[in-house]
Amino acid sequence: MNFYVLTLFPEMIQNAVETSITGRAIKSGSISVDTVNIRDFSTRKTMRVDDYPYGGGAGMVMEPEPVFRAVKSVEGKIGGRPRVVYMTPQAQVLDQTKVESLAQEKNLIILCGHYEGIDERVLQETVTDYISIGDYVLTGGELGALVLIDAVSRFVPGVLSNEESSQFESLQDNLLEYPQYTRPEIWHEMSVPSVLLSGDHLRIEKWRHEESLKRTKERRPDLLKNSYRVVCVSYGEPGAAEKGRALTECITRYGEYMDYNRRKLQKTTFRMKPWNLLLLVMPGAAGEGSTSCREAETVVCYDPALSFAERFRGFYGSETPAVLVGSREELAEASSFLEARKFRIIARISPAVFDEDTLLRNTALDIREKTLHFH
Ligand code: ADE
Repeated sequence: MNFYVLTLFPEMIQNAVETSITGRAIKSGSISVDTVNIRDFSTRKTMRVDDYPYGGGAGMVMEPEPVFRAVKSVEGKIGGRPRVVYMTPQAQVLDQTKVESLAQEKNLIILCGHYEGIDERVLQETVTDYISIGDYVLTGGELGALVLIDAVSRFVPGVLSNEESSQFESLQDNLLEYPQYTRPEIWHEMSVPSVLLSGDHLRIEKWRHEESLKRTKERRPDLLKNSYRVVCVSYGEPGAAEKGRALTECITRYGEYMDYNRRKLQKTTFRMKPWNLLLLVMPGAAGEGSTSCREAETVVCYDPALSFAERFRGFYGSETPAVLVGSREELAEASSFLEARKFRIIARISPAVFDEDTLLRNTALDIREKTLHFH
């Protein structure tokens, strides 16, 4: 991924990005960070790029033309029109969803203002995204640009090693990270929670989820309103459950799974909440050649003779967002049934999403954004 930072202080950007993980990523070619000095595009002999504000008032305003020319110079170089992010306190504060969405871009222009800001007209003409890094005012956009580059780079393939991987991250589920411990087992008379020494993977996962919830409630209760629980329901050939798990794990680390081939489930009543997200993965999703029954003692064979309405007769929503994955016929049948049961379908997805890793990841990202908007 290539970042182009338009700034009056290029050295501030270059010095910072060349250290630590971003520095390593630049060296390995996973990212590049080019700086463009807006002053080089001044239209004046003095090389000034600011002037007094119309209407009076304190401070200076950056002129539109040098900024415009700086943007065009990058567009000319890469032969396209990338997203242009303007760093400003007058914007939505950057969050992880936005970071991940920007990480999908190949090129990104980041515009840093100074003084009292930039002439509004060039912003209107060039900027696609306005981003703040917090509700306070900095002397310029450079620190914001550095924060953005750092956060976005972590999602660019190759930037983090497997160990550093960003797949399971604080804030992915709008929950804060659980507490972490390392050796020694007892330090200053405080011991590591015993569950972490138990070796019981499921118990550890459960404990971590509870601690994440507790910590979020205490420290950032505002995040909880954007927190939802994904319930992945699959039925069909054994492969359907695996596909459902793959997609769910790209969306959340705390998914719940239900196999609706199980007769017991088909007979019970299940009511999903408004803060759930239903991910329904239907038979076609598993593709060809996956019709055999795996692990006969745990997996109940798929009975294709059952209609959707029979299989899901006890299944209810309450303004619950739902994403359906299946063939066109399956989608149609499931949609009308689920809509009548008070689910709100926010996306219908073809089984082709499972064909390619990037497609799967982008689909997951899209689902997360849609779910946040829905809530
Ligand atoms: N420029 C000045 N203050 C800023 C902030 N809070 N976020 C991003 N850019 C800025």
